[in-house]
Amino acid sequence: MCGIIGIIGKAPVTPLLVDALKRLEYRGYDSAGVATLVNGHIDRRRAEGKLVNLEARLKAEPLAGTIGIGHTRWATHGKPSERNAHPIATDRVAVVHNGIIENFQELKAEMEAEGRRFDSDTDTEVVAQLITSYLERQMSPEQAMGTAMGRLRGAFALAVLFAGRHDLLMGARRGSSLAVGYGDGEMYIGTDALALAPFTKRVSYLEDEDWVVVRPDGCTVFQGKTEVKREIRQTGLSGAMMGKGNHRHFMLKEIHEQPAVIGDTLHSYVDPATRTVALPALPFDWNKVSRITMTGCGGAYYVCMVAKYWFEQIARLPVEVELGSEFRYRAPPLPEGGVCIAVSQSGETADTLAAVRYAKAQMQHILAVVNVPESAIAREANVVLHTLAGPEISVCSTKATTTQQTVLLATAIAAGRARGTISAAEEARLVAALIELPALINEAMNMEAQYRGIADGVLAEARDVLYLGRGTSYPVALEGALKLKEISYIHAEGYAAGEMKHGPIALIDELVPVVVVAPNDSLFDKTASNFEQVKARGGKLVLLSDSDGVKRLGPQSVATLTMPAIDPVVAPILYTIPVQLLAYYTAIAKGTDVDQPRNLAKSVTVE
Ligand code: F6R
Repeated sequence: MCGIIGIIGKAPVTPLLVDALKRLEYRGYDSAGVATLVNGHIDRRRAEGKLVNLEARLKAEPLAGTIGIGHTRWATHGKPSERNAHPIATDRVAVVHNGIIENFQELKAEMEAEGRRFDSDTDTEVVAQLITSYLERQMSPEQAMGTAMGRLRGAFALAVLFAGRHDLLMGARRGSSLAVGYGDGEMYIGTDALALAPFTKRVSYLEDEDWVVVRPDGCTVFQGKTEVKREIRQTGLSGAMMGKGNHRHFMLKEIHEQPAVIGDTLHSYVDPATRTVALPALPFDWNKVSRITMTGCGGAYYVCMVAKYWFEQIARLPVEVELGSEFRYRAPPLPEGGVCIAVSQSGETADTLAAVRYAKAQMQHILAVVNVPESAIAREANVVLHTLAGPEISVCSTKATTTQQTVLLATAIAAGRARGTISAAEEARLVAALIELPALINEAMNMEAQYRGIADGVLAEARDVLYLGRGTSYPVALEGALKLKEISYIHAEGYAAGEMKHGPIALIDELVPVVVVAPNDSLFDKTASNFEQVKARGGKLVLLSDSDGVKRLGPQSVATLTMPAIDPVVAPILYTIPVQLLAYYTAIAKGTDVDQPRNLAKSVTVE
């Protein structure tokens, strides 16, 4: 969703605001804007579209000032336009906001009845107008902010600039994340530590309902009227992590980081010497768990689907996989003392967070598989299983997905050992297979010409593409279809291979490429039959398998990708790589915006 930044500096602040917005742009790119104080007056520049448009605007009309706020937007209320771009301002305050003010209509009606005129279609404007109305009633900025917070419903992270106050910024959070950065005579507030990384390593994370008064020499945090302390931590993040290196896109860089970040993740969860899994201490006994509920959204949901096979087969534990956006509305009964595993790269996804809160209310133990350890979902959890993928900037998730899979396979092995459903020898075999993974992924990536060839020659021309798989390859097929539609805008669907004959096979003709994910496992022969059924109807088959599989079905395919031979349990992690690269090179062939596909945003903090 949106990214926000605020800086009280010593030097002109606009270049720093824009620099921070560049690191936040992955969160939303419908419009961007900055506001500063110039001789005590609020001045701002805003532009529709990507940040480059704002930069062009600032070049034409520079903006002075040593204190300011900035915003990059993913529109929720009010279409993307300059008029609706943040900062939203009155003559007294300028506001940037991430989230949704749920009662904005009620507040707007109330203020319009008082004679206030609104200039935008955003929900955010009620915040600016509300604070302004309190200031006009002679409240101090602190009183106005505290009182306004009490009136707002919904989720928000806010930064507020006050006319005439070169020494003051305020921030507030409910739901959406907000961090405070401590500099040398300079202070920062921003959506996350990544935004603040080049400015300072000293950061504190605000908690829900906190609001903060930031001055040049420090800050004071409040919960309601009570002052509270928030620990200052040293972050390991650096501005360099935000570069593309030698890669053309963040997505390609992040795909290529997978061997390294899976290696880092394995370091935390397995002992290569003893070939055993070592998880953090858990507040429950796997033997007393009767059921696991897994939840996530989008790609993270497909990761849960893969993990369901692992927990069921390795630990003999029943697993329900739930879409974060549906779970709480179905309100299913959950067994007391059960385990809920939430999977989320950002740890911010509103629907996954709400699912976690529902599960918590149902007395479940919460395990959070997250990439951002300070995130809201991590904070709600009893145990955090960190994925160590490092910052993921491309909107299309890649390395977060495979590190989530890695952590969950390690967790399933730990559960299996604890429950006695696998032996020590079996654990050692599975851990050995996990340890081999980074090298095999490297091998799978070293076929750039083949990926490009299939993308250019088969997929990019298609209007529709089907992906098929069985067992753990079924969620990989779903993931492949999601990646392709997300960044190439080609319609794609993933199906369980055996389901084709129940309807979707009617779609097959010589124009529809069918990508078959078929590692050489115990289900290969079954998938091969489905492959033949598609072939018999003139389907254009693209086969992903190892050399034996390619030998068998390759001659009937229009294209093949030969993956290294691998233990079938680990195969879904390896086979996620080719579906990522096929989507990437198809998007390149189509000339779409790979890292910032249309209509999307990285962290979805609204329902
Ligand atoms: C797909 C993708 C999304 C996310 C989903 C959940 O490439 O990135 O489908 O997987 O929005 O996001 P997180 O993992 O942050 O909860």
